[in-house]
Amino acid sequence: MIVIMKAASSDSDIAHVMKILENQGLSGHLSRGVERTVIGVLGGVTPNGAPGSLGGLNPTLGETLEALPNVESVIRVSKPYKLASREFHPENTIVEVSAACVEGGVVRIGGKEVVMMAGPCTVESEKQLMTTAEAVRKQGAVILRGGAFKPSTSPYGFRGLGEEGLKLLAKARDEFGMAIITEVMTPTDVAMVSEYADILQIGTRNMQNYMLLDEVGRSNRPAVLKRGMSSTFEEWLLAAEYILSQGNRNVILCERGIRTFEKTTRNTMDISAFPLTKILSHLPIISDPSQGTGRRDLVGPMSLASVAAGADALLIEVHPNPDEALKDGAQSLTIEQFSTLMPQLHAVANAVGRTLI
Ligand code: E4P
Ligand code: PEP
Repeated sequence: MIVIMKAASSDSDIAHVMKILENQGLSGHLSRGVERTVIGVLGGVTPNGAPGSLGGLNPTLGETLEALPNVESVIRVSKPYKLASREFHPENTIVEVSAACVEGGVVRIGGKEVVMMAGPCTVESEKQLMTTAEAVRKQGAVILRGGAFKPSTSPYGFRGLGEEGLKLLAKARDEFGMAIITEVMTPTDVAMVSEYADILQIGTRNMQNYMLLDEVGRSNRPAVLKRGMSSTFEEWLLAAEYILSQGNRNVILCERGIRTFEKTTRNTMDISAFPLTKILSHLPIISDPSQGTGRRDLVGPMSLASVAAGADALLIEVHPNPDEALKDGAQSLTIEQFSTLMPQLHAVANAVGRTLI
């Protein structure tokens, strides 16, 4: 349920609504937009277990709220996710990230600009990271990616440099002014990773790690939530709802391909995810064509397709020598390939009325 307040509503009108909700054992989540102020009602559970639907609790609550001063209307949201839904927040959410390398020091994800995030799959050494960071920055990337805590299918695979890798990322930020995105895998690491990262990445394997989602929700760091490799849109947006409902409103979705029967590509990149999530949700959505395809020769075309379809940012793996990469070399672009791709991306972004930064 969503309560829409009139433009003339005051703080005390809003407090009045919140009080009524509290008396019912519910919570109200306030969103002040340019056009309107809305309160998302959370916490109700019907006898059949549907969260947030108040039918089983107090059937007259909607009418009670509608009668309050300066309440314009009350909308029942049919979807199980509320705060992530477009109904709750009709305007696009724009997530702001500090980055000294851009004018004004702030990168906005979800607005008119398409943001380039690039870097190595995995932080391997200071030389490898700095060489890559310098090269991608030179081409216009403003956010540096790099994994320090790496998921690995095999326990014998490289699992990252851990905190040492985070320190190297922080060093690269100091040197090149780029913001840092890196993966966090456990709830207990959220505070430590947040000391180094500007954006926390939740990987495909952890999309439904609810304790991790709760902890990231309690942190104040923007979070990229990758699509689970076998998840439905509803499951993905409910995972986003975990983070949002803990108070962290800076959630960014990431399409990174899903599992299908096809083996020629590592995953099947779902380009419909960009326009579709924009219909279902107000959250920004970014594209990871590296994980999405697993093939260097497809990263460029799928990056262009993602921007054409509405992606708000790209997350691209680049390595100075992919053949020697400790992880995911096959899907990492060389520095030269990345440099060739950038002007093409500018052209596609411009063609769809956006600019690439
Ligand atoms: C991301 O870089 C992951 O660590 C990597 O893709 C995992 O690959 P694996 O599942 O083959 O170990
Ligand atoms: C990554 O980007 O480093 C990564 C592990 O991606 P995913 O979770 O999409 O596999």
